[in-house]
Order: sequence, then C-alpha cells, then structure tokens
Amino acid sequence: MARSLHNILVTGGAGFIGSNFIHYLFEKTDFTGRIVNYDALTYAGNLENLADIEKKFGGSRYFFIKGDITDRPYVEHVFRDYAIDTVVNFAAESHVDRSILGPETFIKTNVFGTYTLLDVAHHAWGKREDTLFHHVSTDEVFGSLSEEGYFREDTAYDPHSPYSASKAASDHLVMAYHYTYGLPTTLSNCSNNYGPYQFPEKLIPLMILNMKERKPLPVYGDGKNVRDWLYVEDHVAALWLILQKGKSGEKYNIGGENEWENIHLIRRLISFVAEETDIDPKELESLVVFVRDRPGHDRRYAIDCSKIKKELGWKQKSTFDEGLRQTVHWYLTNDGWCARVKSGEYQKWIEKNYVRRI
Ligand code: NAD
Ligand code: TYD
Repeated sequence: MARSLHNILVTGGAGFIGSNFIHYLFEKTDFTGRIVNYDALTYAGNLENLADIEKKFGGSRYFFIKGDITDRPYVEHVFRDYAIDTVVNFAAESHVDRSILGPETFIKTNVFGTYTLLDVAHHAWGKREDTLFHHVSTDEVFGSLSEEGYFREDTAYDPHSPYSASKAASDHLVMAYHYTYGLPTTLSNCSNNYGPYQFPEKLIPLMILNMKERKPLPVYGDGKNVRDWLYVEDHVAALWLILQKGKSGEKYNIGGENEWENIHLIRRLISFVAEETDIDPKELESLVVFVRDRPGHDRRYAIDCSKIKKELGWKQKSTFDEGLRQTVHWYLTNDGWCARVKSGEYQKWIEKNYVRRI
C-alpha cells in the first residue's frame, strides 16, 4: 500500500534535482500535501527555478525557507512549525572538482548536515512509523569500474574523491540511524543526471553553453571515462515511487542504463547544438581541447537498477536522444536563466525577492 505523505521537507530544493522534484510533485503527480523547501541558497541554489511554483502554490502548499541543514535550532523549528512527516534530503555540495579544490564545505554540509537532519528527525518523530527520511545519494560512493560489471545495492563502498567520500559517510549515517534508532529511512544511489536547471559547471550544460559562445570544450584526460546518464525527470519519478512504496531500511539504485564515453557524448551534443543553431559542426568540433586529467578521475560508472524496476515497477521513460535534445533546446532557449546564472545576477534576484517567513 502507498504511504501517506503530508508535509514534505525537501532540503536543497532550489538546486538542480530538488527543483525538478518539486516541479514533478506539483505538476505530474496526485500529491495533495505541502512542500517546505529548505535551502541555504549557496551558489548552486536558484529560486528562479521555482518562481512559477511559488506563484501558484506559495503560502498554501509550497513554502521556501532559507536555511542551512547544519543549523540545528532552525531545522527543529521547521519540523515543529510545519509538522514535517517526510524528509527528502537533496541538500549537498555536489561538484567533484570543487571538492578537490576545497573539501571542507563538503564535510560540513554532506556529513554534518545529514547527521543534523537525521538527529532532528529521530528526536521529533520518536517511534512514529508514519514518517520517512529519504536520502538522495550517488553511485560515486562505489568507486570506479573497469570495462566490465555494474554497481549493485550490495556493492562495497570505495569512494575516491572528497565529494564521494562525504556522500559515503552520509549514507552510512542514514543506515546507522535506521539500525540503531529504528528511524524509517530509504536511500537511493543514482548515476549522473542531466536536464533543465543544472548549474553549468557540470559536463552537459557547460558544454552546451560553451558551444553557444564558441568557447573551448575542455575534455579531461583521454575523454574515454564513462558515465551512465539519467534524465532528471526519470530520476525524480523514481524518488516519488520510493517515497510512496519503498521499504524502510532499503537502498535503491537508479540509473539510466545509458553509458557514454565523455568524448562520444560531447560529439552527440555537437550535432544537436549544430541542428538547433546555425553553427557549423566543424567549428564546434574545433573547440574540443584535451586538458590535464582530474586527479583520481573515476574511469567508469554503470548502475544495475534491476531492483527498483522489479520491486517498485520503475523504468526510464526518456531515450537519451529525446532527453538530450530537450536539454539542448532548454539551454539554448532559456537565455535569461543562463545569463543570470553565469553573471551571478540570480543571487541578486534572490535578495530582491526573498521574504523570510520565520
Ligand atoms: P545542486 O548542487 O544543483 O544543488 C544542491 C542544493 O543544495 C542547492 O540548492 C544548494 O543551495 C543546497 N545546499 C547546499 N548546501 C546546503 C546547506 N548546507 N544547507 C541547505 N542547503 C544547502 O545538486 P544536485 O545536482 O541537485 O544534487 C542533489 C543531490 O543529488 C545531492 O545530494 C547530490 O549528491 C545527489 N546526486 C546528484 C547527481 C547529479 O548528477 N547531479 C548524481 C547523483 C547524486
Ligand atoms: P561531471 O559533470 O563533473 O560529473 P561527475 O564528475 O560527478 O561524474 O563530469 C562528468 C564527466 O565529464 C567526468 O568524467 C568528468 C568529465 N568532465 C570533462 O571532461 N570536462 C569538464 O569540463 C567537466 C566539468 C567534466
């Protein structure tokens, strides 16, 4: 039977996947409850992603609160004020390259922040069983694959970057709170997402916007690292299923079953960008530049997602060509969003538009 969800605390809801999740719940499901979007609005948080949701549901079924997940008193306050019964924890520092340059905020947010949320939930909910703490994690906790094999739910953790190590620690804390205190939890590890509202530091939006501006397309190492690409709407649909029907204490892998070497993916993007614009694909190809490899660069990620397919009936809806075409189209037609994100203007927009509620 599907779980009843009333008051969902979405942390990191102003980021890429969180904002897609909030759109999905309001626009594509029969969810009738309230969403509290609790987000610190770091460089990766952009309230503009949810301006339409705020307009339609703000103050009735949607509430934004600017707060840090490490701020325990504030998190407690929100739990009480909004009678939170479900948490979906997206809030994180999420970019591997930034974690290499400065790991500290990754440890603070991803490890201490997740601990704070878990501990507040544990104390607020006690032995209640009509609650759920869902933690959104990554396949990067499993390390790197060679040409063969897939990550399964029971694959041993072997993180290699400060980012993946901090996510691994947060996953272990989630399971510890489940086993030690009986906190109702679910956990998902997904592969690389792509789609609208992704901050253009990640491979796909960065490449599209650089192509548009005829800037160099930096390919790390030999370009043969492999990622398993998942369309963000397929991901959030899987999360919605887990929230409703996932078994407490379980982990679910979510993947695209869609492996691409980076250089092949970039060439696919070149052909789609060329189709959408009047730029000659040969000119775009000439922008490709092989650069020094990322330290500790994981060679291949690939997910076995048979469990969520079999147990919860999930499957990917988008083919890669459809998802990628829509994504290219979105970045090439949302000039205002892209310009404000690239110039930093989006953070001024937040200052002007945000009204503190508590
Ligand atoms: P993102 O970087 O786009 O967004 C992160 C959000 O968290 C931002 O809105 C930011 O303001 C907020 N945030 C950061 N620190 C915070 C803090 N201390 N307190 C409150 N809010 C804070 O990230 P994303 O790509 O949307 O990823 C969401 C989650 O999914 C992350 O946990 C990430 O590890 C995981 N994940 C992402 C991918 C991917 O491909 N993007 C793949 C696997 C897993
Ligand atoms: P990224 O989007 O940073 O995701 P992750 O590191 O979490 O997988 O990178 C995806 C792949 O693309 C990864 O193998 C690194 C590579 N990459 C480049 O080659 N050039 C770039 O400019 C970026 C950002 C990534």
